[in-house]
Amino acid sequence: MFIFVSMQNRSIGIFDSGVGGTSIFKEIHQLLPNESLIYLADSANAPYGTKSKEDIIRLSIKNTELLIKMKCKLIVVACNTATTNAISHLRAHYHLPFIGIEPAIKPAALQSQSKSIGILATKGTLSSELFHATTNLYSQNINVVEQTGTGIVELIENGALHSPELKTLLKSYMQPMIDAQIDYLVLGCTHYPYLIPILKTILPENVTIIDSGLAVAKQTEAVLTMHNLKNNASNSPEILFYTNGKTDVITQLTEAKYPVKFLDF
Ligand code: DGL
Repeated sequence: MFIFVSMQNRSIGIFDSGVGGTSIFKEIHQLLPNESLIYLADSANAPYGTKSKEDIIRLSIKNTELLIKMKCKLIVVACNTATTNAISHLRAHYHLPFIGIEPAIKPAALQSQSKSIGILATKGTLSSELFHATTNLYSQNINVVEQTGTGIVELIENGALHSPELKTLLKSYMQPMIDAQIDYLVLGCTHYPYLIPILKTILPENVTIIDSGLAVAKQTEAVLTMHNLKNNASNSPEILFYTNGKTDVITQLTEAKYPVKFLDF
């Protein structure tokens, strides 16, 4: 029997190097509750942030092709490292809309009173051309304290979000920013929103922490609408999580609300 699935009924595909993009999944699901979502966690290859641009592009292609095989109508690259290194390649080679995520330098630079902002991101993001271009554009006359989050993604991937080791690491990464009197901290990696409660215990109260999750969800909605791809029917959407790593970390981060399956991809 042939079952016709309209384009609007198809799923949005979301991928990340691992479990971090679940922070973006949550924003999208909250804003677009009628949409079916398929999430791919490429945890077997995490972290992407220490890999070469070529490797990040190769892994992003692999994830994209699987989501296309799964008949997704749009793909959210829920990873700053993959966006800043690979999204232009993906957009040039595949004919479906892509939404990416980049560190929110612009709002931080525009709103900073102290004219000093911090950015915590992976090596891959901080060294990318796209990141440099955005930073140069918006941070004239602003002191930008960049910090590579070495080791953070690995600890979160291993379920060690609440470990003393992670808190010690964060304290050491925040100290130069505190010394530079930042009033905005930009989280430039989708794993990092899970650090916010810990960061709040380390940073002075006047520091505002920002990430791009809600902006990505809003952009997803705008692009779906523009391409007439939005699912307006409230017909219980399907939520699927696939990981090539351990399933329990995603289960924990998503409060065991959704099925998480192992898939070797
Ligand atoms: N969540 C990815 C990001 O937003 C983590 C990168 C990594 O795997 O190193 O950059």
